[in-house]
Amino acid sequence: MRKKGIVVTVGLLVVCGWLAFSATSTANMDIQKQAKAAGVDAKNCQFCHTVALPKKGEGQNELNDRGKWLQAQKAVKKVDKVDGAWAKDYPGK
Ligand code: HEC
Repeated sequence: MRKKGIVVTVGLLVVCGWLAFSATSTANMDIQKQAKAAGVDAKNCQFCHTVALPKKGEGQNELNDRGKWLQAQKAVKKVDKVDGAWAKDYPGK
């Protein structure tokens, strides 16, 4: 049953792609949502990124100075996830 194998393979690929995509976008919707909840005017991705629609795995995540600062705070605070609420403590503008 070769045909069935192909259908299963394609199905798995779709599921994997969807999982990867949703994991990426959820992680970042979270950062943006947290920032907004903390009263920061994070109106679009470019608030922290240098590109309009950052994609996973491109260079330095295409972060601007604020984004880089947020990322660096992970090491400072010794946690493994960025909390968008930190954006309100960003020393730059
Ligand atoms: C308040 C700041 C902020 C906003 C707004 C923001 N991001 Fe991010 N984003 C970050 C930071 C900081 C990182 C790096 C996270 C890390 O290193 O843990 C990041 C990482 C990413 C990554 C890489 C994820 C990975 O695991 O490699 C993607 C993709 C991304 N953002 C997409 C987006 C998109 C799309 C938007 C707009 C809908 C957005 N971001 C809005 C701060 C932000």
